[in-house]
Amino acid sequence: MKNIENYIKQIPKAELHIHIEGSFEPELLFEIAARNGISIKFKSVDDLRNAYKFQNLQEFLDIYYQGAQVLIKEQDFYDLTMAYLKRAHADNVVHTEIFFDPQTHTDRGIPFETVINGISKAMDDAQQKFGISSYLLMSFLRHLSEDEAFKTLEMSLPWRNKILGIGLDSSEVGNPPKKFENIFKECGKLGFKLMAHAGEEGSAEYISDSLDLLKIERIDHGNRCLDDTNLVDRIVKEQLALTVCPLSNLKLKVVNDLQQHPLKSMLNLGIKATVNSDDPAYFGGYINDNYIAVQQALNLSKDEIYLLAINSISASFLNSERKAYLISEIEMFDRKFGI
Ligand code: HPA
Ligand code: ZN
Repeated sequence: MKNIENYIKQIPKAELHIHIEGSFEPELLFEIAARNGISIKFKSVDDLRNAYKFQNLQEFLDIYYQGAQVLIKEQDFYDLTMAYLKRAHADNVVHTEIFFDPQTHTDRGIPFETVINGISKAMDDAQQKFGISSYLLMSFLRHLSEDEAFKTLEMSLPWRNKILGIGLDSSEVGNPPKKFENIFKECGKLGFKLMAHAGEEGSAEYISDSLDLLKIERIDHGNRCLDDTNLVDRIVKEQLALTVCPLSNLKLKVVNDLQQHPLKSMLNLGIKATVNSDDPAYFGGYINDNYIAVQQALNLSKDEIYLLAINSISASFLNSERKAYLISEIEMFDRKFGI
């Protein structure tokens, strides 16, 4: 038992679904609030952590957007991002693809430039310091209009070379993919990688519509694909990857307990599933905690953990040379570890 836990901790891996605002630990939140002279309605770090109990996605989002309000200066975004990258490096994450929600900040009057400079300077420094590579993904908030997404895209264009891809997050049900068909078309023309949260709380149709209407090449969450066998066949045939987030699913009651988590079924069906933390500060665990929790709940084998790590690299947006190099590192680790 100990052996597989160590195997999980040490195996090189990529993280493909992490919202930087969701990595905001209460300690850092309090520290940044204090230095910005912002008062928050929670008395202590423990008080705040105690509020992290959610019945669904919306209850989480309400607290998550509140937390982000204390981020004002470039240094704040830098510190937030650096704290995540340091923590990910400790989990042997060798590459990460990070979502940020610009609208959460620009709608409060924080310049786009402040946000992206803080985040990308930390990404550059972490590459130098820890050797961790990272890409930045800009997410549109689906509870806002497509028009507002267009304004955000416009705002981001001076920093086009710092943003690799586009995502779609926030409240899923009632905000279907069709609402964002035009903006995704435009982003596709501009050469962005495209992905969307789909099938977390929404039905399988949200996933197929994201593929058909938004032309996404990676599915965030995707749990509900299992309700539609034709969709599963398509996902397997086209080798579309799912960025699955077990502890998030548990905390947001997408699954009632981890024993019922669909990850093992996904792997058995030949779906390219990966394991990720989503919003680690809010859901009680970083990437290795997610691997360990789901390994225990579903009794995943060492070979399944190995496959998840390989999938994480192959589903990334890295070029084929770096993918091949990182896959060879995983193979070498596996041979050396010897269980
Ligand atoms: N779903 C939708 N929006 C989000 C999430 C999520 O899991 N995390 C941060 N924003
Ligand atoms: Zn997410």
